[in-house]
Amino acid sequence: MTTESTRHLPESALFTGRGTTALWALLQCLQGRGVSVLLPVNICEIVIPAIRHAGFQPLFHDVDPVSGNATVENLRQAWRPGVAACLATHNFGTPLDMDAIKAWAREQEVFLIEDACNALGATWNGAPVGSFGDAAIFSFGHAKIVEVGTGGALQVRDAALRRKARGLLDSLPLFSPRHQEADAAFQAVLRTLRQNPPAARPEVYRALYAAYLPHLLFRPDGRLQEAIARNLEGLDRNLAERREKARLWRSLLDVPPLRQRPEVAGDVYWRYTFLAPETVRDRLLAALRAKGIPASTWFPPVDRLFDGRRASAGFPNAARFAGQCLNVFVDRSMELAAIPAAAALIRKTLEQA
Ligand SMILES: Cc1ncc(COP(=O)(O)O)c(C=O)c1O
Repeated sequence: MTTESTRHLPESALFTGRGTTALWALLQCLQGRGVSVLLPVNICEIVIPAIRHAGFQPLFHDVDPVSGNATVENLRQAWRPGVAACLATHNFGTPLDMDAIKAWAREQEVFLIEDACNALGATWNGAPVGSFGDAAIFSFGHAKIVEVGTGGALQVRDAALRRKARGLLDSLPLFSPRHQEADAAFQAVLRTLRQNPPAARPEVYRALYAAYLPHLLFRPDGRLQEAIARNLEGLDRNLAERREKARLWRSLLDVPPLRQRPEVAGDVYWRYTFLAPETVRDRLLAALRAKGIPASTWFPPVDRLFDGRRASAGFPNAARFAGQCLNVFVDRSMELAAIPAAAALIRKTLEQA
């Protein structure tokens, strides 16, 4: 890695095709340590087939209903014998309590992987996220804080394990237009499924991801690595702009019945995520989208996507959060000057509700 990129990523981090590729390669190296990987139920679904492909079962945990992120209590409650690793996911740009989580992982002898895919540049007690666990994954893919289209990174603390993971990553095919084409086709099917919930059955999802999985496992070429390094150089500015927009959103949306997620020292902004009562959230989303203002409701529980037998009723906080959360944007797609009018639209829609 270049000197510039090591300002934001651990020095020994390896560039990977995606964040998911990083996770898959690491888990391959952990085979034999247990049967499952503990992870939040509200995570990007792409990691689940990668966990399965590496020989583990996902074991989901619930999250805090207001932050949408894990607490150590969530991990403690979901832990079962056989957990090989925990994917401590700093979602929404908010760092988890790594003191408590690290102590818990040590006590349970769980391999601790930090998922910093949505929190690049965040810190906990002044140290960057990704520097606390036994390993960490990063992403530069679609909608990430540093968005290069694809790309990821893997940090592994133990040198022998890192060498093993590097061997695996080096054996993967090089990034090519074939991967981009497969991704575009896959995204198109996924969009159709999301717009047509009855078709999104577990067997459909399993088949879709089984076909797509080989296209996730690639290594970045020189151009992609250079693009990531170049974009990382602008991270400080990128984060400062996001923070300025987030502050403005917060000040304009701090009205009942909306609820703001607590600020945490060292946080960064993936998007500006806040909570609205379930009865009005979708109306706010529709009002924003009708005016072409970007907004989303990520991240919903994913436990039922691949396995219909499980029910999100087992994850009441994540289900509640998913019904209430709204993400407004803080990246280049949302100018600072456009935020007051967008916030006024939210407030007007609330008054009419
Ligand atoms: C929290 C989290 N972890 C992992 C990933 C996977 O990263 P990638 O898309 O680079 O494979 C994502 C992607 O959206 C994510 O949001």
